[in-house]
Amino acid sequence: MSLSSKIIEEDSRYLMQSFSRWYPLVIDHAKGSIVYDVEGREYIDMNAGIGVMALGHGNEKVINAVQEQMRKFFHYSLTDFYYDLAVRVARKLVSFFPFQGKVFYTNSGTESVEASLKIARGHTGRQYIIGFTNSFHGRTFGSMSFTSSKYVQRSIFSPLLPSTLLVPYPDRHNPLCQGDCSSAILGYIEDWVFKKIVDPNDVAAFLIEPIQGEGGVVVPPKQFLQGLEKISRDNEILLILDEVQTGIGRTGRMFAYEHFDVKPDLVCLAKALGGGLPLGAVVGRSEVMDLPRGSHANTFGGNALALAAAEVVLEEVPRILSGVERNGKLIFDNLASSNSLYLEEVRGRGLMIGADLRKDGKPFEEGLEKVLHKSFLRGVLAIGAGESTVRLLPPLIIEEELAQKGSSIIAQEISKL
Ligand SMILES: Cc1ncc(COP(=O)(O)O)c(C=O)c1O
Repeated sequence: MSLSSKIIEEDSRYLMQSFSRWYPLVIDHAKGSIVYDVEGREYIDMNAGIGVMALGHGNEKVINAVQEQMRKFFHYSLTDFYYDLAVRVARKLVSFFPFQGKVFYTNSGTESVEASLKIARGHTGRQYIIGFTNSFHGRTFGSMSFTSSKYVQRSIFSPLLPSTLLVPYPDRHNPLCQGDCSSAILGYIEDWVFKKIVDPNDVAAFLIEPIQGEGGVVVPPKQFLQGLEKISRDNEILLILDEVQTGIGRTGRMFAYEHFDVKPDLVCLAKALGGGLPLGAVVGRSEVMDLPRGSHANTFGGNALALAAAEVVLEEVPRILSGVERNGKLIFDNLASSNSLYLEEVRGRGLMIGADLRKDGKPFEEGLEKVLHKSFLRGVLAIGAGESTVRLLPPLIIEEELAQKGSSIIAQEISKL
């Protein structure tokens, strides 16, 4: 039995199997944009640990910063005591936003979303929060109440959070949408939801991904997010953007909302922020971040090692955004050139790219599995999103040569379907 087979067998014996893996990759180590398995095989990384390793694996600056911090202290519960590193990273983080802001640190995406929901309700004194279909916000009860990219993620865990509503996201594959359905959905919110279901004065916030990730890399029309911002302003409803996946340079801008010229009130972050260490944050307008003392805190949020890594990430990522645009375009064009009946569309921004596979207009799940598996056997790692979208989220520092080679192999496998 190979070492990888043995580890996979033991994994199924000792770990709860509530998640599904795409292919049998057993990772040993990684450097830059290359991952090595326990048998010594090499792979081009188009996952980055699912949008986390923005600066690549084994980044020396991150290693040095974390090592230096290790010699000072690892952890000392920021919500009970003070340290300068937490202030420095928060100051740097808010400097990217178009408002006077404050930060609350968390350990993960879902915890950032939970915090944002509490802040929205706490600040406004209103109960309702409106999310969007086909979204992914996490797997704890609050965030799960707005997660609807697959029903298996929520169905057996009900009842979920009360006073929540889901309205359609403007995805052209939503059966209710014919082409751009932005104005239909905005009209539905104003003329139907606000008249029949809930008084807008009871709505604390809208929670939305500026580009849906897990739902299949769905980019909404600009006028949709702008219209939603207007409805928010008109009704004093907060606009919470979940940038857990899109944030920190992934789309070629520091934050995806910059593509849409909208201003959020609260932004949820995690994934890339900690450079591979668990770190999330909610960044919000200072006047909104006003929960009473003692009402919200955590033990590990703002862990010193994670913050040391984040300080490097926030310094480095703005410098590599032009490479994100350039390599994103290269990958996008390579995928779009696949000669396949089944390639419905290539979508995305920067290095967040999805190739949607459809057969007779319906999601082509077997096609997706085949492409991912065959690419894996040829040394390229990517996973799926939505029902049948090949999703590419490589490290933001990926070299042009690897971006070219990795995306060409995936494009070839799509063509072979
Ligand atoms: C947009 C978005 N929000 C929230 C989450 C949840 O993050 P985590 O898995 O760190 O809880 C994810 C994870 O993929 C995500 O993509």
